[in-house]
Amino acid sequence: MSYYSKQNNCKFSLTTPLYYVNDIPHIGSAYTTIIADVIARYHRLKGDDVLFITGTDEHGQKIQRTADNRGLSPQVHCDEIVQSYHELWELLDIRFDRFSRTTAARHHEIVKEFFQRVWERGDIYLDQQQGWYCVACEEFKEERELLDNKYCNIHTNQKTEWRDEANYFFRLSQYQQQLELIYQERPDFIQPQSRRNEVLNFVSSGLKDFSISRINLEWGFPIPQDPKHTIYVWFDALLGYITALLDEEQEPTLENALAKWWPINLHLIGKDILRFHAVYWPAMLMSAGLPLPEKVFGHGFLTKDGQKMGKSLGNTINPFALTKHYGSDAVRYYFIKEIELGKDGDFNQERFVKILNADLANDFGNLLNRTLGMVQKYCNGRVPQLKLDDIPQDNRLRLIGQVLGREVSESYDELELNTACEKIFNLIRSSNKFIDESAPWSLYKQEKQSEVEQILYAVIESVRLCSFLLSPIIPNISTKIYQQLGFDIDFNNISTNEKELPFDLHKSWGIISLNSTINKPEPVFTRLEIPT
Ligand code: MSP
Repeated sequence: MSYYSKQNNCKFSLTTPLYYVNDIPHIGSAYTTIIADVIARYHRLKGDDVLFITGTDEHGQKIQRTADNRGLSPQVHCDEIVQSYHELWELLDIRFDRFSRTTAARHHEIVKEFFQRVWERGDIYLDQQQGWYCVACEEFKEERELLDNKYCNIHTNQKTEWRDEANYFFRLSQYQQQLELIYQERPDFIQPQSRRNEVLNFVSSGLKDFSISRINLEWGFPIPQDPKHTIYVWFDALLGYITALLDEEQEPTLENALAKWWPINLHLIGKDILRFHAVYWPAMLMSAGLPLPEKVFGHGFLTKDGQKMGKSLGNTINPFALTKHYGSDAVRYYFIKEIELGKDGDFNQERFVKILNADLANDFGNLLNRTLGMVQKYCNGRVPQLKLDDIPQDNRLRLIGQVLGREVSESYDELELNTACEKIFNLIRSSNKFIDESAPWSLYKQEKQSEVEQILYAVIESVRLCSFLLSPIIPNISTKIYQQLGFDIDFNNISTNEKELPFDLHKSWGIISLNSTINKPEPVFTRLEIPT
């Protein structure tokens, strides 16, 4: 039996974490979900069959306590918070395929079946658990990890709680060697490299069995063999990824769930939950005899104005307000362009506005506007009916444009999303420069019509290609541009019209004359005010 996932070119499944519903979504969850959505959209654009999973993690002490404090039943509380996730994903134009809730009845069936497999494997036993528990992390902490006075190293305003209770344990220690072998044989399993090193260090220091049940906790699934114990929230939540693979009408069995989409190609997570995904989860899967996911990618953390963000620090960013104010493309673009995926990144309102004005309003928006204006004026609103071969081979936009599709595609494949933006903006900036330097307005006056047409063709084609390649990131702007260029395409709805949008054709340079008439130029991104 092989634990290695197979590479599949036309099927791509990816997940965000299943978010805790102790509160409405914060900017961290928005960040992870935007990245996942960009990747999912890129794969759909390529014509892949995509399953993009997100959802919520609703059990455990943290949620139960929050609901108690609000005087609500946990389920009522969860239903309310889940709504706010749907609202935010709608605002941010997130096109997920599945929303997995761990309180769903079908999820219970999957958890029972999986638990039974691991139980039969002999990997679960009862013992005494003593240790410091962080309810916010829902995790026992090593004493050496804690801050002064036993505060959590991640939730630095939360004191951990001492626990001394009978728990069921999972024999993680049994899997140390197999895990090490997998990390070695599959160097891309954990990314980026820095995160992989963290995991290798953690594992090589020796894996301990971990407790997978709680007592005195009602909010969760009971252990079938001993119902006074409740299954540990993380054990339950990770399995939410499997439940999500079921079609709506399918009977909830592991066999059904795993039939089409397993193994998942990409688990995208924040760096704080790396161990669960890169150590515990693969061990649980091996215990149940299942293949492992292809890749776990741990992104960095966001800070605000260089400071750690937190409610107690009073410096959180409200993703609802931000998106309502600036629009989803602006928010998506900033986080993708400004932060190298995998590294920590900062949010600063002034930089946010400056970047959006510089890139989207000035460089890209103006380029479109001035070019379409000139096509109206100098070419009667018709795209110059030229072919690739009519453009000189050493035309600098042609030179960049001809390789851009491939290069940007590689960046997306490598999850180097900010590099994809940089490459695309290189063509946008070169196009502006090209117009300035070749001055088609004076050539027009000199009645050099064919030169004017060559220039405008090269620029308009570059605008088209850039908006196509940026469409996973800024789908609304790209749609407006494509429509102004006369294409009947909506990048928010490409699964239905992929035949009209063959990837290999649209990612090449030199196809704009497939379409002859352009529409009236309209601003695609309005300049933003610098905040005072
Ligand atoms: N419920 C678990 C995941 C279970 S997956 C089976 C969980 N939920 S969470 O709501 O706390 O996670 C939120 C996600 O947001 C994580 O990926 C986390 O890394 C991310 N972020 C939380 N704060 C963040 C920042 N300040 N910056 C960027 N991302 C951060 O963990």
